[in-house]
Amino acid sequence: MTLARQQQIQVVAHRGASDDAPEHTLAAYKKAVEDGADALECDVRLTADGHLVCVHDRRVNRTSNGRGAVSALELADLATLDFGSWKNNHGEADEGPDWEDTSVLTLERLLELVAESNASGRNVQLAIETKHPTRWAGQVEERLLLLLKRFGLDSPPSDGPSPVRVMSFSARSLQRVRAASPTLPTVYLMQFVSPRHRDGRLPEGVRIAGPGMRIVRNHPAYVAKLKRAGHQVHVWTVNEPEDVELCAELGVDAIITNRPKQVLSQLGRR
Ligand code: G3P
Ligand code: CA
Repeated sequence: MTLARQQQIQVVAHRGASDDAPEHTLAAYKKAVEDGADALECDVRLTADGHLVCVHDRRVNRTSNGRGAVSALELADLATLDFGSWKNNHGEADEGPDWEDTSVLTLERLLELVAESNASGRNVQLAIETKHPTRWAGQVEERLLLLLKRFGLDSPPSDGPSPVRVMSFSARSLQRVRAASPTLPTVYLMQFVSPRHRDGRLPEGVRIAGPGMRIVRNHPAYVAKLKRAGHQVHVWTVNEPEDVELCAELGVDAIITNRPKQVLSQLGRR
């Protein structure tokens, strides 16, 4: 792979630097920023009282010391939980690193971290994924856009790229985002290639494709097809060196990884 190509690939920290630190915590995102990630990826869900929090699973059981669905808990309930100790030495709570900043992370706090980082000279972007948005009939997107608006991030600046993009496996969710904010970039995530997207076309108005690494490994020519159709290609979740190499050879635009430090080093950027 050429140096120019290596430099162009955006490295996105998936759930933060989630290989090293507990996913979706401030600790994981601070580490990703320190490691030099170009962008941060997060999943968002609505709490019972309407706050957007960064949690991947429907339930909090895997990544905290609590139990229950995010949608059934209020922010105050979630705030009592520890989202970090499950990561201590693979679950043995009295050994391994003692993480700080491991309470539930609101999207608002993550937006503040991005703003703080950028105010101190960095240029960090945020890729926000709406999880199970169909259950909420538009409320996730509505809350998301209100919050982005508050931070002045609901549309790109006139003189540069958007610091924020919205991703989803749901074309409907992206459609809602575009209806409210037509210039905000959207990413259509794909676990497999459905017949209607085989020719490289995406849902109307979507400019960025987000194929899983399995698609890229099994159908590398699909990347070129997407690019010929005029789309950027952001691949997830790319952790192994041979997958990074393949993505770079194929000319993808962004690599979404749990290991931003290693990927940046492999691309010769650290
Ligand atoms: O970046 C897209 C990727 O995060 C989608 O899969 O399950 O990790 O949210 P998941
Ligand atoms: Ca995600």
